[in-house]
Amino acid sequence: MLRVALTRRWPEAVEAVLGDEFALRVNKSDVPAEKNQLIKLMADSDVLGVTVTDQIDAEVINAPGASVRLLANFGVGFNHIDLEAARAAGISVTNTPGVLTDCTADLAMTLMLMAARRAGEGEREVRAGQWAGWRPTHLLGTRVTGKTLGIVGAGRIGLATARRAHHGFGMEILLHSRSSVAPELLTELAAEQLTLDELLSRSDFVSLHCPSNADTFHMIDARRLKLLGSSGILINTARGDVIDEAALLDALTGGAIAGAGLDVYEREPEIPAALLECENLVALPHLGSGTVETRGAMGMRAVENIRAFAAGREPPDLLT
Ligand code: DGY
Repeated sequence: MLRVALTRRWPEAVEAVLGDEFALRVNKSDVPAEKNQLIKLMADSDVLGVTVTDQIDAEVINAPGASVRLLANFGVGFNHIDLEAARAAGISVTNTPGVLTDCTADLAMTLMLMAARRAGEGEREVRAGQWAGWRPTHLLGTRVTGKTLGIVGAGRIGLATARRAHHGFGMEILLHSRSSVAPELLTELAAEQLTLDELLSRSDFVSLHCPSNADTFHMIDARRLKLLGSSGILINTARGDVIDEAALLDALTGGAIAGAGLDVYEREPEIPAALLECENLVALPHLGSGTVETRGAMGMRAVENIRAFAAGREPPDLLT
């Protein structure tokens, strides 16, 4: 029987399916595995179910005695896995695209609305018992409806966010993408495709939806934050290292931008204390895909990949 190991707890129903079909081992403590534990798991299993909290680098992949033949990632992003090293070692890698599009786009909208309407500040005030009651000048935010939203990365989640913003909030959409966006999409969203600098200069809000890789590392730096401008709001549900976090801190405290809404960070789960002191930051704990429905669907997508691999078929979401 195929030996499947999971580095973290997966939704109960998904673990039950895996337990019925395979020889399953689960890290019941749900504490992120250290490198030596990952190396041990690589040597004790045929399939390793991994997540964004596991650094699957070349050292883990090439660990002596590694028996794993499939790394089944629970998630769409795979910047924590060295794909080149996996390919060279003959290890397949899969992810779970598609099923988390809507919930992640919903969360991008949540962050945008919260940051614009100062919802975090308001909630903190109420809970601290400091709300003095309604008054015409209290906690004034900025209107979202009808404003301009720049979307960086025109993949599934970027486009789903654009649709919500355009059709639901009447926002003007600007897109930045490495490849050209299909004309019918530009028409549907009444959108323009621009360079990143142009998009930042013309947007009221910018939402990041690009992958993390060498090209996008610190793509949003001090210079680009200045382009977004003192009334601009930056949203990130993609990966933390797309933003230079130190530059973002300076921009939030120095007024180069008006605010930010983050779901992801450069060194998760660590967030610099100074960043958390910024009242104009909305900070969520990497919740993009975090609904019962979506996490269940992600798990079942991983199951489909493992089933195909076990049957000698090409997994549907094969990355390498
Ligand atoms: C994803 O699917 O990439 C989420 O960010 C969790 O890894």
